[in-house]
Amino acid sequence: MLAGEEGEVVAKMMRLLVRLGDVYGADRMLPVSSVQVSGVSYKSIGDPGLEFLQDFAEKGARVRTLTYLNPAGMDLEDWRDMGIGEEFAARQQAIIEAFRQMGIVVTATCTPYLAGNLPRFREHIAWAESSAVSFANSVIGARTNREGGPSALAAAVTGLTPNYGLHLDENRRPHYVIDVQADLDYVADFGALGHVVGKEVKNRVPFFTGIPEATTDHLKALGAAMAASGAVALYHVEDMTPEAHLMETDGLEPLTIEQHHLQDAYDALTTGQEPDVVITGCPHASLRELMDIARMVKGKRLRKPLWVCTSRAVKETAQRMGLVEDIVAAGGRVVADTCMVVAPIENLFSTTAVNSGKAAAYLPGFCKQQVVFNNLRHLLEEA
Ligand code: F3S
Repeated sequence: MLAGEEGEVVAKMMRLLVRLGDVYGADRMLPVSSVQVSGVSYKSIGDPGLEFLQDFAEKGARVRTLTYLNPAGMDLEDWRDMGIGEEFAARQQAIIEAFRQMGIVVTATCTPYLAGNLPRFREHIAWAESSAVSFANSVIGARTNREGGPSALAAAVTGLTPNYGLHLDENRRPHYVIDVQADLDYVADFGALGHVVGKEVKNRVPFFTGIPEATTDHLKALGAAMAASGAVALYHVEDMTPEAHLMETDGLEPLTIEQHHLQDAYDALTTGQEPDVVITGCPHASLRELMDIARMVKGKRLRKPLWVCTSRAVKETAQRMGLVEDIVAAGGRVVADTCMVVAPIENLFSTTAVNSGKAAAYLPGFCKQQVVFNNLRHLLEEA
């Protein structure tokens, strides 16, 4: 590939991977069986990104492994109802078209593992979205570094990634033991916990104790928040995540999280007062979360708009179950393919209420929003 026997596009991507491998001291390339590419929203990549992707597709770039996309800047079907302009929509569709030409599955979601791209334990993959990277490494026990848009695309086109970082056993060991002595009742509590711990441990690996029970929805919220406030790409939870029992924790730096730490996170992440809208589904909502939301709003009438962000695959199942209908009847909408951070919501709202630690951390910078951060039950009651 490097010698150009498979064409210039493949050679260029291979050069990128070899350089990356050299920088990090990788001894070889590993085959990857799943890729997730970021840099999909027109809001994030703009015209230079669109032109690069079109050129790349034109030159014959084709993926050779199962590859999904991160969320786009709009619902690819219901963008008009979301308030997206024609020009933005046309450019976003052109980006998706370039990816389609490359053979990428045009499912735009940060939860590929809930939408048909589910790696197995110890499988080597190359994913880019930080919350998905955290989920894959921690909850599934697959192995991926936090890829950038270009390196993930290179992995998709070559089917390879350099063997370094979290692909290696020695880098999956924890650095901190986090003893949680606080109540974790809501998804938002896990987001608050993740926000505190991510700030503290930065890009290192935490090992949690004292979490008696958590669903995969809770864990996806925890990982997303830690990846946003820090750069955590892997964590372990005692008696819960698949590699935890393999880890030695004696002598690691301890950190205790108490109730007041979570309250501090709620206070720090809340920068506004009266929300214009409630947006949930960061990371993209699971079917179980949609069922809960539908149950909470069924037969009620919300005074404020509600957006539930999810993948197209989950939305379609929810539609069949009548859940979307219940949410719409209450005045909400289920938004697929996009989210509150990568869609241009700054043109629509100025204060957004969320139950996600990650969204609360990103909305002020990415979308110029004031934020109300609380648990979803509270937010919906207020709405
Ligand atoms: Fe996903 Fe958007 Fe949150 S990409 S993790 S819903 S910021």
